[in-house]
Amino acid sequence: MTIRSLSDLDVTGRRVLVRVDFNVPFAKGVEPRTISDDGRIRAALPTITRLLDAGAAVILMAHLGRPKGVPAPEFSLEPVAKRLGELLGRDVAYATDVTGPSAQAAVAAIQPGQVVLLENVRFDARETSKVAEERAALAAELATFADAFVSDGFGVVHREQASVTDVARLLPHAAGLLVEAETKVFRKVLDDPDRPYTVVLGGSKVSDKLGVIAHLLTKVDTLVIGGGMCFTFLAAQGHSVGNSLLEVDQIDTVKGFLASAQERGVEVLLPQDIVVADAFAADANTQIVSADSIPDGWLGLDIGPKAIADFNAAIKSSKTVVWNGPMGVFEMAAFADGTKQVALAITEVDGLTVVGGGDSAAAVRMLGIDEAGFTHISTGGGASLEFLEGKTLPGIAVLED
Ligand code: 3PG
Repeated sequence: MTIRSLSDLDVTGRRVLVRVDFNVPFAKGVEPRTISDDGRIRAALPTITRLLDAGAAVILMAHLGRPKGVPAPEFSLEPVAKRLGELLGRDVAYATDVTGPSAQAAVAAIQPGQVVLLENVRFDARETSKVAEERAALAAELATFADAFVSDGFGVVHREQASVTDVARLLPHAAGLLVEAETKVFRKVLDDPDRPYTVVLGGSKVSDKLGVIAHLLTKVDTLVIGGGMCFTFLAAQGHSVGNSLLEVDQIDTVKGFLASAQERGVEVLLPQDIVVADAFAADANTQIVSADSIPDGWLGLDIGPKAIADFNAAIKSSKTVVWNGPMGVFEMAAFADGTKQVALAITEVDGLTVVGGGDSAAAVRMLGIDEAGFTHISTGGGASLEFLEGKTLPGIAVLED
């Protein structure tokens, strides 16, 4: 089924409610609150600009963090409204509530070509309620603000929430340019990838990626495993992993994955060598050891040079590469090389390359790698994982009717 696109929606002279994902990180301990990565705000600009250019009045809904249904200053979107105004080069009105007097006044005053950002939609407990009638009641209030709804918050399309799904049931709707682009790319890598097809998985926990691994084993030619999750794979192969991150309760599941990969002819590449440290600290003592002989008392914090060479050879000979999760603790310079080298290898691929959101997208930006080197950097963390798991995402399904 296809989802409706912006060109299917008549927006000229109309008020359009747009769900975006402005769940951006802030610099820790810095006052006034300072956005540390505005990638998700920038990713929403094409849709906002397109609507404004078409003569729409744009009312933006977004969340920040998980404030549990009560207003809390540390989760206010006010700094986001300011940053959005800078990026758009025009005023962005900011409502201090979601559907209360401030929002109502801002919406009553809005003119075509203008933008209002409503306060964090999760300040209203009905947004994330499990009770459908409560969500529908909030959606009904939001729907009175506009003539049409555009879904452009790809990072939240896996959520059944009032501003994501319920509001779409009440208004003429379409996918925004970001949701359309993300959906297209994930459908391509799931349904029709050019081969060889390699998926590179990292990040700390294998338990976060069980569904993804199970689903991708039916699709890929090569599965590359780095990051903290590789130690559960190494343990499943019978190696001792010292003090490295290990999910003992997942060892049997991982053994099942390895057996299934072998049956299907999928190559699973694990690191041959590991950078180990005597403490989880930026200035810890380090050494490079073979992955089958991690010393007791040491913990693996990055993949080693042989692993980088193996991984990069597989990556560079692929026509499709999907990467989700860092190879090591890239936030510390001593353990950033694996992630950096793998990311750089992906930029050299002659084919389609996709960076799954969350930590991998943050790593690309933090390590100063040119974002233009990838075909697509997803803005979705959980959403991109659920897509790769093959799940139906409620925020996409609702746009298909
Ligand atoms: C994200 O950061 O992945 C999205 O904004 C979704 O946030 P959530 O996991 O709190 O729903």
